Amino acid sequence: MESRGAALMAPAARASDWPLFAGLGPLGALETVPRLARSFCQMVVSGWGLAELADDCELIASELTGNVVRAAAGADGHPRYDDRGQLPLLWLRLLSDHARVRLEVWDTVPLERGVPLLRHAADDDESGRGLGLVAAICDDWGWDHLPAHAAKRVWALLPAVERVLL
Ligand SMILES: Nc1ncnc2c1ncn2[C@@H]1O[C@H](COP(=O)(O)OP(=O)(O)OP(=O)(O)O)[C@@H](O)[C@H]1O
Ligand SMILES: [Mg+2]
Repeated sequence: MESRGAALMAPAARASDWPLFAGLGPLGALETVPRLARSFCQMVVSGWGLAELADDCELIASELTGNVVRAAAGADGHPRYDDRGQLPLLWLRLLSDHARVRLEVWDTVPLERGVPLLRHAADDDESGRGLGLVAAICDDWGWDHLPAHAAKRVWALLPAVERVLL
């Protein structure tokens, strides 16, 4: 019987399930990161022969890294350095089983600065749509706190490429 622990771990990434891996980071949580994340996704996912997923992957990476940059910034929108003069860090990880892509964004922004929360934006709201978009595009998404790494991780699972067999 599958243990509860295993069930809880179901969305997590076991290396054996995801033979393809590419990672970017640590990166300081700065405004230049979403652009870098987008081009990294395009290059890696296309290189894996999954070009059909590259645009969605790019979009999700942009939303998730953008959220970290915003959470890391001060009230004035500028980068906020901690007492040791350091920026919060983030990592982008891409994993694939040759059909699906799992995308993870890890960050060290303290939980007191907020946690990922799906909002229901009204028509005239200027923000609050990013995670809704991620949820709409992806088969599944979620986030967890990783105390051992002093980090949180937001993950998203892109649907498998549908291949037409000729
Ligand atoms: N990595 C994160 N760390 C801390 N809080 C987060 C993180 N990601 C998301 N959040 C929180 O979840 C909320 C919803 O995120 P979402 O991307 O849906 O909207 P938004 O970033 O506020 O606006 P938009 O994406 O439309 O520009 C954010 O406002 C923020 O409070
Ligand atoms: Mg957002």
